[in-house]
Amino acid sequence: MEKHIISKERVTNHGEVFTRKREVNAMLDLVKQETERIESRFLEPACGTGNFLVEILKRKLSIVKNRYAKNQLEFERYAVLAVSSIYGIDILQDNVQECRKRLFGIFDWKYTELFPKTTKNECISSVKFILEKNIIWGDAIEMKTEGENPQPIVFSEWSLFNNMIKRRDFSMKAMINSYMPEQMELFPEPDLFADFNEEEFIPEPINEPSLVHFLKLGELDEN
Ligand SMILES: C[S@@+](CC[C@H](N)C(=O)[O-])C[C@H]1O[C@@H](n2cnc3c(N)ncnc32)[C@H](O)[C@@H]1O
Repeated sequence: MEKHIISKERVTNHGEVFTRKREVNAMLDLVKQETERIESRFLEPACGTGNFLVEILKRKLSIVKNRYAKNQLEFERYAVLAVSSIYGIDILQDNVQECRKRLFGIFDWKYTELFPKTTKNECISSVKFILEKNIIWGDAIEMKTEGENPQPIVFSEWSLFNNMIKRRDFSMKAMINSYMPEQMELFPEPDLFADFNEEEFIPEPINEPSLVHFLKLGELDEN
């Protein structure tokens, strides 16, 4: 049985009602093509424990498996890319932890199923590093992180160049503010990192770390 309410208090305080798998998949089918594009970026600003994000990752990893199961390095590269394309925010810390755990579980399951004897700790660490960055404990309305020292929410854009990964950090506020009203007619929906609307204005990154091998992300000491 899927549990869609944890407590009355959480529903009253945070509107926490989880979406059932059947509805999640029906909604994702409305943008099926995008859910099956490995690098297509998704942000769930009230992600809960990740009901939408988990199904998106499953779909993307099925594509990665179909295309790259015969080559471990290729599988790893595109699986890391798939994970890096998924973003979530939730105001409740336990939801964020559970969301990261579920997403990692999906990745780990697919990875170890295909390469049971040769999985690499460094690939696992890279995925964990990305999930720490992409699944944010924060208030999506205030656009600030939660916790002792709230900071503006920052999203990392990840792009692959062969085996190297490029990260550019953008403030959520700048991304939302840069969505000009006069563009409304052209692009009725704002679009994370303007992936496929080339004419959309892209804000300046606030941080651009050097290129790093996609299997070495876990060695960075940032989270
Ligand atoms: C209706 S639930 C949806 C959860 C998930 N998207 C799903 O469909 O299963 C709403 C979620 O938004 C979170 N939430 C409420 N206010 C928020 C805010 N200001 N910023 C981020 N998350 C918030 C709650 O903690 C809860 O997990």
